[in-house]
Amino acid sequence: MDEWVGEDRFISNSQLEALKSEGKFPANLSLPEEEPRRRRGRPSLPHDPAYEQLEREHEEATKVKNIQKIILGRYGIDCWYFSPYPDEYSENIDLLFICEKCLKYMKSEATYQSHYHRCEYTGPPGKLIYLKEGLAIFELEGEVAKLYCQNLCLLAKLFLDHKTLYYDVSPFFFYVLCEVDESGVHPVGYFSKEKASPDDYNLACIMILPPYQKRGYGRFLIQLSYEITRREGKTGSPEKPLSDLGRLSYSSFWAFELLTRLRAGSRTIPSLKEISFLTGFKEEDINETLTELGLMRQYRGQKVLNMAPKVLEGLLKPFENKKFTLLDPECLNWP
Ligand code: ACO
Ligand code: ZN
Repeated sequence: MDEWVGEDRFISNSQLEALKSEGKFPANLSLPEEEPRRRRGRPSLPHDPAYEQLEREHEEATKVKNIQKIILGRYGIDCWYFSPYPDEYSENIDLLFICEKCLKYMKSEATYQSHYHRCEYTGPPGKLIYLKEGLAIFELEGEVAKLYCQNLCLLAKLFLDHKTLYYDVSPFFFYVLCEVDESGVHPVGYFSKEKASPDDYNLACIMILPPYQKRGYGRFLIQLSYEITRREGKTGSPEKPLSDLGRLSYSSFWAFELLTRLRAGSRTIPSLKEISFLTGFKEEDINETLTELGLMRQYRGQKVLNMAPKVLEGLLKPFENKKFTLLDPECLNWP
C-alpha cells in the first residue's frame, strides 16, 4: 500500500538500541548495514534506447500510488498501487468513480450518477460461459471488447504491484467473474490469458477486488484456468513472477487439488507425468508442491511419493473447515 511517509516514521540505530534496552524491540533484530557510499551512485551506462525504454516502463509501473480510493458499485475501496489512468483522472484525485457495468471512470459524482443510470451495459461485454448459484463468468476477447478490457487492466493495476499491460489488450482473453443478484451483475475479479503462449502460461494476471478477497474466489478462477487448459489438451502454469498473494493462492490451490486426488486415487503410485495429465499442472509445479508438503522421499537415489492415507488425511485437515465455492465443470460452457 505505497504511500509517502514522514521522517517521524524513520528510526536510527541509536533509537533502535534504546528501544531494545527497554525491551520494546526484539534484541536479535538489527537494521541493515549502511550501503558503502561508493556503490550508491548510478552506474554510467552507455546510451541504449532499449534500456532507457525499459527504465521508463519500470519507473511508470512502480510509481507511488496516485489514486487513494475508488467507488465501484456498492463499495468504496482503498487503492494499493499506482495505476496509469490518464493524468486528468489521477493527478491530485482522492476519489475516482467507476461504473461497475462498463468500468468507465469519472471524477465527479454527479457525472457518475447520471452515467450509471443511462449506461447501456448490463455486464461485461463477452460470452457468458458459466452460471451457477449467483456466480457468472464472462469470456471477453481483448480485441473485440477493447475499451472494457483496457479499463479492467487500469482497475486491476490499482491492486497489482507489477504489471505492464494496460493498453495492448488484443493478444489476450479476459475471464471476468461476477456475482449476480436482483440488483444486477457485479464484477468480483478476473484473470487474463494470452491467446497463444510460447511458454505455456495459462494465466497472465489474476486479481480479485479487495472486498471479495479471502473468500475463495481466487481459487475458483485458478480452477477455471486449469479446467480450460485441460480441455485444450495442454498443461499450463501462471506467468512469473507471482506476487506474494499470488504465490500463497497457487500453493494452497495446488496442495489441495493434489492431496484430494492422491487420497481418492488408486493405491498405485502415479508418476509426475500421469498427475500432470490428469490435472493440467506442469510437472515442475507438482514436484515443487509435493516436495513442500514433505511427500517426496529419497529412496535408493530416487524420489518416491509418500501416499500413506494417514499422512494425506493429516495434510488435508486444515482445508476441511474452509468453505469455498468450487467451480462446477458441468456448468462450464467452454469452448
Ligand atoms: N493472507 C494470507 N493468505 C492468503 C491471503 C492473505 N491476504 N489471500 C489469499 N491467501 C491464501 C489463502 O490462505 C487461501 O488459501 P487457504 O484456502 O488455504 O486459506 C488461498 O490464498 C486462496 O485464497 P482465495 O480466497 O481464493 O484468494 P483471493 O480470492 O483473495 O484471491 C488473489 C487471491 C487473486 C491473489 C488476490 O489476493 C489479489 O487479487 N491480490 C492482488 C493482485 C495479485 O497479487 N494478483 C496475483 C499476481 S501474480 C499473477 O497474476 C500471475
Ligand atoms: Zn457504465
